[in-house]
Amino acid sequence: MLTFKEEVAGLLSSLIAMSPAEIAPLLEIPPEPGMGDYAFPCFVLARRQKKPPHVIAAELAARIEPGSIPGTVQNRGPYLNFYIDRPYLFEKLLLEITGRGIDYGKEKGQNKTIVIDYSAPNIAKPFGVGHLRSTVIGSALYRIYRALGYRVVGINHIGDWGTQFGKLIVAFRRWGDSSQLQKDPVHYLYHLYVQFHREAEKEPELNEEARYWFRKLELEDEDAVGIWEHFRGLSLIEFQRLYRLMGIEFDSYQGESFYNNMLEETLELVREKGLLKESEGALLADLEPYGLPPCLLRKKDGAALYITRDLAAAIYRYKTYRFSKLLYVVGAEQTLHFKQFFKLLELLGFPWADDCIHVPFGLIHFKDGRMSTREGKVIFLEDVINRAIEMAQNIIREKNPGLENKEKAAKAVGLGAIIFGDLVNDRIKDVEFDWEKVLDFSGETAPYVQYAHARICSILKKALGESATGSGERHFDGALARAEGLLEAPEEEQLLITLARFKEQLRRAAEEYRPSFLARYLLDLARDFNKFYHNCPVLTAGGSLKEARLLLIEGVRIVLHNGLELLGIEAPEEM
Ligand code: ARG
Repeated sequence: MLTFKEEVAGLLSSLIAMSPAEIAPLLEIPPEPGMGDYAFPCFVLARRQKKPPHVIAAELAARIEPGSIPGTVQNRGPYLNFYIDRPYLFEKLLLEITGRGIDYGKEKGQNKTIVIDYSAPNIAKPFGVGHLRSTVIGSALYRIYRALGYRVVGINHIGDWGTQFGKLIVAFRRWGDSSQLQKDPVHYLYHLYVQFHREAEKEPELNEEARYWFRKLELEDEDAVGIWEHFRGLSLIEFQRLYRLMGIEFDSYQGESFYNNMLEETLELVREKGLLKESEGALLADLEPYGLPPCLLRKKDGAALYITRDLAAAIYRYKTYRFSKLLYVVGAEQTLHFKQFFKLLELLGFPWADDCIHVPFGLIHFKDGRMSTREGKVIFLEDVINRAIEMAQNIIREKNPGLENKEKAAKAVGLGAIIFGDLVNDRIKDVEFDWEKVLDFSGETAPYVQYAHARICSILKKALGESATGSGERHFDGALARAEGLLEAPEEEQLLITLARFKEQLRRAAEEYRPSFLARYLLDLARDFNKFYHNCPVLTAGGSLKEARLLLIEGVRIVLHNGLELLGIEAPEEM
């Protein structure tokens, strides 16, 4: 089913020389309810048509045939205001939502593959805030595209190769303790890494030794490879444990090391195109004609670089998945890297180079020093998770002491707070992460949205008995409700209109790679529900009004639930 907005964009495109895709982003949500549910600003046409916008608006309004959209249109000054037919909301929307339940929002196959590269922590280096953001944003995009019917491949391009392994091997051979490594590999490897740097200040020969060991690793020396595999294996198990805890999925863990045996071929391709230059034994590509700095592809000691591996990986991924898009969810500080990398793909003549997209994001600063002081400017994912759950537990104990399964709710609320606290911001902006703020039950937070959902569950349970939620079998005659003047309070209308906006915000989140559109939408919906609930009693309403309101909130419950799930957040029934 097309959304109302899509219907409007389609209609307008038949009247003016613009495609629906160009029109849709121009449609505004007016600041006041009386001004329509969507408005099209005719300024954009004034230059081209050489007429004042209010004249264009009047002419267009006169040309629109009644019945061509499920709504009406009115010109007002330079705007065309569109009003969704209320019966459409009753009869189509609410029934579609409640009929499809947990599948509402899911679309059929697109027969297109989207590959998403996200999270990608580095072994033995700290799991930085950048990795946290990448994990959360990438995972939301993964879920959103999957719901929209794409084949999605989530790849964790683990940083499992590089000179740090030479250092770690040296550190482990000198000071290592196997039982500590087993117990807590992620922290312990980082500890060794820090220790190495400290000791190397006093004893610079250590660096030489580390280079020696890395060299051995590159030459596939058995001892070196054995230790490396051990470090890598233990770290992966630990990462996977945390991902599972957070509900994050990947289809592949092919990290940087996976491309080791493809690097020569890759360099050969660059050479064939005449792009490779030698400079003091190192190999680089000159990108100066394109206004970019030259990029080093092989060091003089023969070691390949991050970008060389990225080239090999992209080529491999295209061969393997034939993607229609390959998204890299990586911090904005790597913008230059991606410019160089994509330029090289283009110069190598790959037509799909244009389908590789860097999805950048800003930094997070943790307001609470506790997160950033442990051995330097570092966060550990696990510490963030534990802290969030612990704080959520305290809040829930206070707010709802009688709740049965507090652990479960605390996990949903704590993890939800971290994820939503990130996603609610436009990704490109820097974020200040403040624990008090993200866990505030009345703020722009996951708990606020989750609480609206839990509240609806409790109302439905009271009205319909224990097994109320999720049945979706209640019969509702939308036409009758309309005839009897039900659901006509302003809060009810607003709630219906907001419900009608879910799909467009979902699509927008996908198109612009910005889960924030969906997160902000859920806040609006939760807010509109709270306003409604404040003014329109459900359980004490009489007869068919009660029925209609129950159906309305069931629709809201489903959309809140499905929307949170698309962001990777659980919606507990009680909290
Ligand atoms: N491991 C890298 C880092 O921590 C991120 C990798 C992102 N993915 C990629 N294909 N370059 O900076």
